[in-house]
Amino acid sequence: MDRNLALEAVRVTEAAALASARLMGLGDEKKADQAAVDAMRKAFNGVKIKGTVVIGEGERDNAPMLYIGEEVGSGDSPEVDVALDPLEGTNICATGGPNAISVIAIGKKGSFLHAPDTYMEKIAVGPKAKGAINLNKSPSENLKAIAAAYNYYIEDLTVVILDRPRHENLIKEVRRCGSRIKLIKDGDVSAGMATAIPNSGVDVLMGIGGAPEGVLAAAALQCIGGDMQGRLKPQNDQEAKRAKDMGIKNLDKIFTIDELANGDDIMFAATGVTNGDLLKGVRFFSGGADTHSIVMRSKSRTIRFIEAKHHFDFKPDYNG
Ligand code: FBP
Repeated sequence: MDRNLALEAVRVTEAAALASARLMGLGDEKKADQAAVDAMRKAFNGVKIKGTVVIGEGERDNAPMLYIGEEVGSGDSPEVDVALDPLEGTNICATGGPNAISVIAIGKKGSFLHAPDTYMEKIAVGPKAKGAINLNKSPSENLKAIAAAYNYYIEDLTVVILDRPRHENLIKEVRRCGSRIKLIKDGDVSAGMATAIPNSGVDVLMGIGGAPEGVLAAAALQCIGGDMQGRLKPQNDQEAKRAKDMGIKNLDKIFTIDELANGDDIMFAATGVTNGDLLKGVRFFSGGADTHSIVMRSKSRTIRFIEAKHHFDFKPDYNG
């Protein structure tokens, strides 16, 4: 894949972020998501790839655009697989909360696990703790191993956990260990990615979130040298069947980071929609808007933060 593709990819996430950020705080998550999807789909037409969506907005019947299996891009080579979430954190955007992002990852065919839209138990860490995590072990055992790898006291670790009733026991156990906890309302792609970025204030992601989001976080972590494991948590027979239909035979399998997203050659781009730990949100000004994005390549481990100024032909009609 041409390395410039990474910079093309960021145009796609910028477009989706700009469109959805207009609807920040308006309380309509569906509308914000739709705006991001429409803008991302359109922006893909200008990207020189023959892409197939493998992580997307859902099944063909339920998602009019960017559905799993849909072809995106100009149709020119290279042939690639695409994992995307036009608006990760729909509720966050609708309420003006922190850490909503627009995100895509592009990789060679077969780079991404074809994850069903079910839950996944996850653990993610930065480069120093690579190899120290194991989902077969208890949260306490993992935290001890991670603290040792980081050369921290266990009390110095900050663990991000989605604020959900299903995490009551996990939260109790982490508190017993003495580690600090950051409870988030939504957005575990951004949180997973943050574990590998120095000074993000976050060391570990633990708990159960969306499986497609798990693949996106793994793609980001492959570019930064972090580590992650995931285990599917289907909630009912229908979800278990969907996972099996997508080729996952052993539902108890622990997926390594390489199985979630193969790091040989991945391009990853994310743009902030609302302000977050890593990325600033879209800021509108008269005649345009600023965006803040991260663009990464697993092959070179290059990480770029891109601040862009966009100018629109749009003139507000103050007379109504
Ligand atoms: P959406 O953008 O699809 O709303 O996902 C937000 C999110 O918080 C993800 O980051 C996370 O993986 C998942 O939802 C958690 O699911 P749930 O809200 O059902 O606990």
